[in-house]
Amino acid sequence: MLSLGNAFDDEELAAWEERIVRLAGNDVEKSGYAVELKIDGAAVSLTYDDGLFTIGATRGNGTVGEVVTENLRTVRDVPLKLVGDHPRGRIEIRGEVYLPFDRFEKMNEARVQAGEPVFANPRNAAAGSLRQLDPAVTARRPLRFFGYSAVAENLADLPFRTQWELLEQLAAWGVPVAPHRARLKRLEQVHKWAHDIEHTVRGTLNFAIDGAVVKIDSLRLQDDLGVVGGREPRWAIARKFAPDIAETKLLAIRVNVGRTGALNPYAELDPVEIGGVIVKLATLHNEDLIQRKDLRVGDIVQVKRAGEVIPQIIASVPEKSEPRGKPWRMPKACPSCGTPVERDEEEVAIYCPNVACPGRQLEGLVYFASRGAMDIRGLSYSRIEQLINEGLVTDAADIYSLTRNKLLSLEGYAEKGTDALLTAIETSKSQPLSRLLSALGIRHVGSIAAQLLARHFGTLDAVASASIDEIGSVRGVGPIIADGVVKYFRNPGARKLIAKLRAIGVNFSEPQQVAAGGALAGKTVVITGTLPNLTRPRATEAVEQAGGRVTSSVSKSTSFVVAGEEAGSKLEKARSLGVEVIDEAELMRRIGERSTGSD
Ligand code: IVH
Repeated sequence: MLSLGNAFDDEELAAWEERIVRLAGNDVEKSGYAVELKIDGAAVSLTYDDGLFTIGATRGNGTVGEVVTENLRTVRDVPLKLVGDHPRGRIEIRGEVYLPFDRFEKMNEARVQAGEPVFANPRNAAAGSLRQLDPAVTARRPLRFFGYSAVAENLADLPFRTQWELLEQLAAWGVPVAPHRARLKRLEQVHKWAHDIEHTVRGTLNFAIDGAVVKIDSLRLQDDLGVVGGREPRWAIARKFAPDIAETKLLAIRVNVGRTGALNPYAELDPVEIGGVIVKLATLHNEDLIQRKDLRVGDIVQVKRAGEVIPQIIASVPEKSEPRGKPWRMPKACPSCGTPVERDEEEVAIYCPNVACPGRQLEGLVYFASRGAMDIRGLSYSRIEQLINEGLVTDAADIYSLTRNKLLSLEGYAEKGTDALLTAIETSKSQPLSRLLSALGIRHVGSIAAQLLARHFGTLDAVASASIDEIGSVRGVGPIIADGVVKYFRNPGARKLIAKLRAIGVNFSEPQQVAAGGALAGKTVVITGTLPNLTRPRATEAVEQAGGRVTSSVSKSTSFVVAGEEAGSKLEKARSLGVEVIDEAELMRRIGERSTGSD
């Protein structure tokens, strides 16, 4: 597989045209150009024999790549069989495997939640996913594919004479082709098209591109022009876009309060265009990072769109930043409610301990209602925002005081949807204690810790009145979680909330387990990654109801690991210890249930 030479601006592109006109004269003008997006993914080659997908390989160094046929079979855009009037014999289709931005972000969020390292950008994630040893892992990564070339031993065997026709043929055979391609006669048109793609189109795409590819349209002329040094074709060039780094002024460092009270600093920037998108904000992660990079308000900073989505500050440019402001410090009081902030001994995180802090409210309520917590269907982020703005809801308990009339008086509520929402709210009152504990957003208490606590103590009152030692001695619960729990129940705001929930009739107890003699009796199970149908708490419930025990870390005594999409370090650990790895379907088979498809 070939690679491409680069042109970094219009001039370099014009110099390329001059070179080929010198060789081919006005054949260049006769042919014209086919221009395409340059997809920033992982290049692959797909071999089809009589229309059937037989071999799939990565590009490797261009000559030798890795055979990853089984992995590529799981990519839904890769046709296992060409459709329509495809050629007999062997042809090879080349193209790019990529990961859409939205899926990439989801995947990384899941990795963060599972405590696994995130991928730096969609390209690395796509390339890494392709080289997985287990095709089941690749299958869980939402990879996509665009084709851009087809080759056969004999060019004359293929039913097209131009790159443009080639792309149309690929599409007709059922191979996805990237959008926004064009067939252009003159170089000025190419300049303009590339400029439009860079500044207008790029920011609207759900996948990464790092330039445009300009190709001589006529395949015959392509053949005549040939390849330089066996690697770069003369007939094509990558028109690279400006690097996705820009310099701008750091106007302010602000702090946002998350669900568990964690204070997250972010940068407000003098708006600047990066890769077709205007960037005004950038994440700053934590105070340590700001100090390590010595970022100060007023500095000129280099900003990069990481994975081309979440803007990040690379560094400040000190020579452009004189005179410099003072080093930045995290506020001593919560920017939302003024409560003095606290620092975790174990972490670099600083947080607001006030459970009733309005800054925590929105995020907290969204989490309370989410699928993995109280599971109130229909109570979306925007609806919660609206209810807060209308003054109808200030804490989780207020959700249960919403009435039909109040809701119907709001914008966007029709009778049917309102009734469905009220039913969902009512139903959620009987969720088990484990879900309520997790929904409360107690620091360090995720769904697993919530289950352990609920099963051990049985009722909310027992958890609330337990000492730090009692909690810390529950199997699987350590001192950090215990500290979070004790601090939570000491907080007056939390006590008030719990009194309100009790008055409303929210369930405070955990149903007895049907454990003994279950299909998984005596088994220790680790669940990692995102399962296709079950949320983490549901999967845990299912294992426990079958008598199994769910733990959070893999060891030799783990019976098996259930791995979903984006399983990372735990999966690797299981492999290295030789612990069995299964998927959700197999888990359900062992439990003796079928997974439900939608939940
Ligand atoms: S043509 C001339 N077309 O870019 C043959 N390549 O830097 C070379 N790429 O390894 C390939 N989008 O993986 C071509 N529309 C496109 C492309 C494209 C992305 C990648 C390809 C190649 C790299 C070269």
